[in-house]
Amino acid sequence: MNATTGTTDAIVTIERDHGRLRRLVAAVETMLEEMRAGTGGDIEALVAFAEYTLDYPELHHRPLEDRLQQALLARAPELGAAMAGLQATHESLTRQARALATMANNLADGAEVPRPAVIAQFAEYAAAQLRHMASEEELFLPALRQRLDAETLREIGAEMAERADPLFGAHAGDRYEALRRRVLDVDAAGSLSGGG
Ligand SMILES: [Fe+2]
Ligand SMILES: [Fe+2]
Repeated sequence: MNATTGTTDAIVTIERDHGRLRRLVAAVETMLEEMRAGTGGDIEALVAFAEYTLDYPELHHRPLEDRLQQALLARAPELGAAMAGLQATHESLTRQARALATMANNLADGAEVPRPAVIAQFAEYAAAQLRHMASEEELFLPALRQRLDAETLREIGAEMAERADPLFGAHAGDRYEALRRRVLDVDAAGSLSGGG
């Protein structure tokens, strides 16, 4: 859709997604803090977060990384063991995301799920995502930058540029509006307390 997406370097897209996911995780952690303190608890926004984890991160971000991983292994087969570790983390994040979505559906249906269990499951997923992004940025992205040429990175970026992010993208819809507002609130609070 966007005339510039076809020329986007795939690593730039990965880094942009990570930046957005970190903002989202910060918003979720703020909501979890409020729940722990008993001062709030936006279950609807948490349910939306659980849904979102199965959407863009699973349907776009991870396939883009899978595609890059294939291209990297074709040129650097000695990275097989490191890439297998990354793949195992992807699979465990998918299992966690599915479990979150199941719990969120139960909550939305009015099931009584003990609040500490809700908080713990969301907090574990959020922490796992942060660890995973940090390890990709430390090992995976530099290896991609080193071993894949700029044209390959652009080609892969263009192949995968079709899907818009339903929470952060320019065409974000109503579905995640409440969650999007929470992210913007936490962004604003962070930039105020961070002193610019
Ligand atoms: Fe990943
Ligand atoms: Fe990633």
